[in-house]
Amino acid sequence: MPSVKHFVSKNEKDTRTVAKEILDEIMKDGKERSRALVVALSGNLGSGKTAFTKAAARNLGIKSRITSPTFVIMKRHSFSAGKGSKEFKFFFHIDAYRLRNEKEILSLGWKEISDDKNNLIFIEWPENIQKVLPRGARRISVSADKTGARHFKFK
Ligand SMILES: Nc1ncnc2c1ncn2[C@@H]1O[C@H](COP(=O)(O)OP(=O)(O)OP(=O)(O)O)[C@@H](O)[C@H]1O
Ligand SMILES: [Mg+2]
Repeated sequence: MPSVKHFVSKNEKDTRTVAKEILDEIMKDGKERSRALVVALSGNLGSGKTAFTKAAARNLGIKSRITSPTFVIMKRHSFSAGKGSKEFKFFFHIDAYRLRNEKEILSLGWKEISDDKNNLIFIEWPENIQKVLPRGARRISVSADKTGARHFKFK
């Protein structure tokens, strides 16, 4: 059974440290892939999924502004430099919050995007497109506790 790792973040700066630690593991394991590397971020509204995605993108060297893709569903950023550029060409950020099923994501080119090993894909609200997620997708769940700290569980 894969072990679950638990990280706590008290603010967005901590989230950057958490993102680095989780990414180091994901990148290590992801080297064998033949398709895109998919990271599924589950968690309630406002739990910190977009903040984590931003932190991860920065850590990997994405320079462009990461904003929540809630209304456009999917945004693509290029790796031009930084450590992510050794492994990937594109960083996709998907917010499936508004999707009711897999149809819309398929029409946005999901098959081609997820088949391409040059792509790193982060997905918020992955439950809404569960059927198209690859079996090897990495799972992170985010939650806020009553102090406002965010908990990241990763397997
Ligand atoms: N580790 C953290 N500690 C404290 N506040 C945080 C932390 N991470 C994010 N926040 C704050 O929580 C709010 C929501 O964060 P964010 O947009 O990342 O959540 P989300 O999970 O993407 O929400 P949604 O489900 O709407 O997409 C933001 O105001 C952000 O500044
Ligand atoms: Mg979000």
